[in-house]
Amino acid sequence: MNHNKEAESETRFYGFIRAASVGLTHIISIAFPVFIAFLSLPGTSVFSWHPFLMTVAFGFFMTEAILLFSPHGSLLKRFPHKTKGRVHWILQSLCGSCAVLGLAAIYYNKYLNGKAHFTSWHGLLGLITVCVVCVQSLAAVPLIYHSLAKGWSLAKLKRYHAASGLVTFLLGCTSLLLGLCSSWFTESVGGHAWYLAAICPALSALIIMNQVSSAYVAKKRLQS
Ligand code: HEM
Repeated sequence: MNHNKEAESETRFYGFIRAASVGLTHIISIAFPVFIAFLSLPGTSVFSWHPFLMTVAFGFFMTEAILLFSPHGSLLKRFPHKTKGRVHWILQSLCGSCAVLGLAAIYYNKYLNGKAHFTSWHGLLGLITVCVVCVQSLAAVPLIYHSLAKGWSLAKLKRYHAASGLVTFLLGCTSLLLGLCSSWFTESVGGHAWYLAAICPALSALIIMNQVSSAYVAKKRLQS
């Protein structure tokens, strides 16, 4: 009897921690792009669009597109899975569009200033990230038009999509973190504020990693 009560309160405690961490990620997904927008002032120069569009793409659209499948704090919790799937691909399309525009902005800015392209770790990984986002989006089309992937079960396609989606998200978070190491950012944000900014993509990465891997483990348990 006592053991049952203990297990129940433990489950409730972990449920609270999970809901609180997903809630915090929702707050970060809005606060982080707003902070970068105040810093870069989009529209004041060609460069200003790059940090803004990239944080909106990965920090807001991609984060929210994955979080809406969270069992612990999805904004569409009461909606059917089909609706979540539809909102997911709309948000991911917006993420892809912002990422491509953000890449175009920094590429054009460097062209205007006669600077070499993709010379830093941030630039190189950023380019790879945007390419992976495009491939991931194209590879997701058979999830909507299943006839395009003959011989592949929908369950298998979904599993691969979730795993590669997590890798794409982690690439996005790492590119964001490397962006925060750029001299443009560190010249205006230093000390505790820098760590506070860096914790945003790091924490989002951890929470999304936990969400996707838990869903995978739960499905595996159901299958076995
Ligand atoms: C996931 C998000 C991001 C991606 C995919 C990304 C991608 C890129 C790419 C591909 C370049 C090189 C362009 C070229 O050489 O022609 C670049 C440059 C740059 N980015 Fe980002 N970026 C992201 C986020 C950020 C953020 C958040 C900041 C600022 C806080 C930032 C600041 C810069 C700066 C200052 C440069 C020029 C210096 C350099 O090449 O490293 N980026 N970015």
